[in-house]
Amino acid sequence: MKIDVLSLFPDMFTNVFGSSILKHAEESGAVSFRVVDFREYADNKHRKVDDYPYGGGAGMVLRAQPFFDAVDDLVKDQKKPRVVLLCPQGERYTQKKAEEFSKEEHLILLCGHYEGYDERVREHLVTDEVSIGDYVLTGGELGAMVIADSVTRLLPGVLGNEESAITDSFSTGILEHPHYTRPAEFRGMKVPDILLSGHHKNIDEWRHRESLKRTWERRPDLLEGKALSEKEQLWIEEFTRKE
Ligand code: ADE
Repeated sequence: MKIDVLSLFPDMFTNVFGSSILKHAEESGAVSFRVVDFREYADNKHRKVDDYPYGGGAGMVLRAQPFFDAVDDLVKDQKKPRVVLLCPQGERYTQKKAEEFSKEEHLILLCGHYEGYDERVREHLVTDEVSIGDYVLTGGELGAMVIADSVTRLLPGVLGNEESAITDSFSTGILEHPHYTRPAEFRGMKVPDILLSGHHKNIDEWRHRESLKRTWERRPDLLEGKALSEKEQLWIEEFTRKE
């Protein structure tokens, strides 16, 4: 998969794309990252990418031209990529969207700073507008990193243990169960006995119940409309009684 980023601050990506799993993913050929300073595409002497808003008002607006020319250059005659605009007005980013993006061959992530983008970018260039949460950042770069990271870890072969992408929080629709490692007792705090029992069926059941409990406590919204087994419904009745 190819992930291209258009940003005015390409240096921000150096450490994120050059470390840990994203670095290995690129070395293994699962993904290739390219970060382009779209100022290079500005068709004026001073490489100006923004201008005053028509109709007046405070702030500046990012011009359409550098985005259109940069995307034309990145796409050339390849298949149509997903062109994703990062902005607080976009659709809220979720694991479902990460899974959808991970099936694409080519993603282009557009990061703005300043007041906003010329509307023609939204209307005629982008395929998706995405927000990473209900807060306003200084620019789209952190959002682009979030998308690149969450998509890359879903690509085949990127996580050593394939299972870990499937069982982690959100992919299963509920939160992950608690984890423990050695020692069995630390400063008087003990690991639950069941995990030391070696009884795999009971351990699986305990984990399943703890996942559900954690979701019920912290993110009940994730359980709304979810089909629950009889056993899960009984567990929820137990949690409610103990509350
Ligand atoms: N740019 C500024 N705020 C943003 C947000 N919440 N998500 C994505 N891009 C942004």
